[in-house]
Amino acid sequence: MKKNLIKSLALVMAGIMSAGMLAGCGGKGDDVLTMATNATFPPYEFYENEKIVGIDAEIAEAIAGKIGMTLEIVDTEFGSIVAGVQTGKYDMGMAGMTVTDERKQSVDFTTSYATGIQSIVVKEGSPIQSLDDLAGKKIGVQQDTTGHIYAADEFGDEMVLPFNKGTDAIAALVSDKVDCVIIDNQPAKSFVEANEGLVILETNYATEDYAIAISKENTELLEKVNAALEELIADGTVETIINKYISAE
Ligand code: ARG
Repeated sequence: MKKNLIKSLALVMAGIMSAGMLAGCGGKGDDVLTMATNATFPPYEFYENEKIVGIDAEIAEAIAGKIGMTLEIVDTEFGSIVAGVQTGKYDMGMAGMTVTDERKQSVDFTTSYATGIQSIVVKEGSPIQSLDDLAGKKIGVQQDTTGHIYAADEFGDEMVLPFNKGTDAIAALVSDKVDCVIIDNQPAKSFVEANEGLVILETNYATEDYAIAISKENTELLEKVNAALEELIADGTVETIINKYISAE
């Protein structure tokens, strides 16, 4: 009887001690940095086997390492990233995301780490040869991207067909459901390489800055991520990562 009591006391003590130790370390959960992305956007984020890889994934990994956190990437619809960051569902959004005044009303952005250019992809031999030829044409875009916003503003909502993924917009071009696709230049290049008979028009539509979105409420994280990112830019890490995925022209 006495022996049993001592035994159970010891068990209780051990339980209390390990709970205390966990609490003392803050638990693993506190150290996770969740990044929302939309992994249909090579070379910034895409799947290689079952894993999300790309420029954003690697830069985020380097940032997490610098600030002592474990990166966890969540793949979601592009259009839900800003709201998810704003409400604290994700710590940050990194998705080749363009800094826009409208998004800035909902979230803060870090220092920019890359630039993108909106490009127009058409089929080889298309009558569309420049921006001027777009009037009256069906334009494929990825839903809620800047390409979507520009196309709708300039050519009217009824001319624009939004798709969940950039790859779906390209598939629609291949099967003649749209006449062109407006999308960022690097994914455009990847998609043109992966699909025969597509070309990118020479006209550059708009140049944009990519940055990481962080909640306006989480200024502490913004400062940490910015400090880490700025170091990674200064020491050439960001450039090395970008060059790994984008061959110099
Ligand atoms: N740069 C464009 C934007 O911010 C497109 C980004 C799409 N990114 C993605 N991971 N699907 O709207």
